[in-house]
Amino acid sequence: METLTTDVLVLGGGGAAARAALEAASHDLHVVIVSKGPFGRSCCTVMAEGGYNAVIRTKDPEDSFELHYRDTVEGGAYLNDRDLVETLVTEAPDRLVELENMGAVFTRGKDGYPDQRPFGGQSKPRTCYAGDRTGHEIMTALSHAVRSEDNITVLENVMALDLVEREGHVVGALCLDVIHEEPLAVSAKVTILATGGAGHVYPVTTNPVHKTGDGYAMALRAGQRLIDMEMVQFHPTGMVYPESARGILVTEAVRGEGGRLYNAEGERFMKRYDPERMELSTRDVVARAIYREIQEGRGTEHGGVYLDVSHLPDEVIETKLETTLKQFLRYGVDIRKEPMEVAPTAHHFMGGVPIDTRCRTDTPGLLACGEVTGGVHGANRLGGNALADTQVFGKRAGETAAEIASKAAEPPRLRMKDVEELWDRWTRTLDGEEDPLEVRDELHDVMWNEVGVERDGEGLRDALKRIRELRERIEGNGLSPTPDVRTAAETVNMVTVAEAVAASALHRTESRGAHYRKDHPETWEEPKHTVYHPDGTVDTIPVRRRRRRRT
Ligand code: FUM
Repeated sequence: METLTTDVLVLGGGGAAARAALEAASHDLHVVIVSKGPFGRSCCTVMAEGGYNAVIRTKDPEDSFELHYRDTVEGGAYLNDRDLVETLVTEAPDRLVELENMGAVFTRGKDGYPDQRPFGGQSKPRTCYAGDRTGHEIMTALSHAVRSEDNITVLENVMALDLVEREGHVVGALCLDVIHEEPLAVSAKVTILATGGAGHVYPVTTNPVHKTGDGYAMALRAGQRLIDMEMVQFHPTGMVYPESARGILVTEAVRGEGGRLYNAEGERFMKRYDPERMELSTRDVVARAIYREIQEGRGTEHGGVYLDVSHLPDEVIETKLETTLKQFLRYGVDIRKEPMEVAPTAHHFMGGVPIDTRCRTDTPGLLACGEVTGGVHGANRLGGNALADTQVFGKRAGETAAEIASKAAEPPRLRMKDVEELWDRWTRTLDGEEDPLEVRDELHDVMWNEVGVERDGEGLRDALKRIRELRERIEGNGLSPTPDVRTAAETVNMVTVAEAVAASALHRTESRGAHYRKDHPETWEEPKHTVYHPDGTVDTIPVRRRRRRRT
């Protein structure tokens, strides 16, 4: 088996991975990035449209870290790890400046500062943006910086299959070259998990096809617990037709710039759900409102609601919502004149691998950053906080990796026998009978209908039973390596992640943020994290409230 040795191994191909790699490389370390698809093109970062939240006090003296902190914790329904929030809000502005120094061009106002648009659940307009292609702008700058760095080797079309451990330490990963379907081992002093989320455990999602929860599944297999896996954000506005476009993001920037939501009866229904904030309520509230309108028969022909910007000047639409304009024109809808039809779509996992402010996990040798982690966003993420998260915690993960890697005198060695054992297990699983695409279809049906925007105990119990049956079928019969080995390996991970989501959702007998239980509409007095353990059990721990500093 081919083996590479490096100082720092970064698993993931998006904004957090890129920032972590750049930071580690700046400490004179060699870094290997393993990206399942094309680097910087197969991630959520590049698809993020609306913006990056940062307080710019010199621009708006009335905004403050305190307010950004408060909005984030209130928006997260008090499930956020406070130290992580503090870190996010205080460091986001500096990371934004660094992106600009790397060449990302943010839209600027007449005052010369980055312009800031209002986003849901925020008391101030603080979402910096590049039109409605912010993530693309950021990822282009990061990719260029990564490609210019001699110390970074980027492996594309390589999927991490499993973390490799030695004496309780992660010492690298077993990977799969998805084109040649050959294994590859990477030995590293420290490994950073930055694999993003798992939108594709749902059939309708904003996420690129690569987001199958590989990081969560690998972490569990390495004995790492996960928190708050039930906290799945449904973005309120995804496209609803044609079928091939279902789920594609309709950016929150549309509402930020003044877009209005109407039901099929022409009612601006948000006044019944959040009369003060209306369309700029938090995503959990807006998504649930849209869902209810559709469920109660006030939806549109294609099963959505209307999102209208036709009252805005054409110039605003053409400059600030250019991508959205083109996205709908492609399907024959001119948003300057007619409304869009939208409905909720799976968007972001707030739960994941618990980390401290230095991105350390429970597992020695393993750091994590970005969407694969849990705790930063609590029960509901504010739009615009994810891009900031990738940069703040990406940099921190790179710094911690550098600290650890600089201390280790000798590179840790993977024991080939351990890697080969892991590979043997995979080859046995991926040379079986079950059709991965059929398993996915069944999984999608369960997740959408029973573990979606609204849940209840009966549905969740049924979901868990059906997901466990899928797992047992895979364990018993294996998966067929068709259409390809990657699809089969991803399907194993998707079932693992779905089980974690459903079990955690069943355990959380309350409604909080994105997790709404029809049979438990009340909220626990004390916010608690659910903890999903590698053996499939779930319990709870209190939310860390300690706050280190405030600037
Ligand atoms: O709606 C959006 O543009 C998405 C932004 C985000 O999820 O932060």
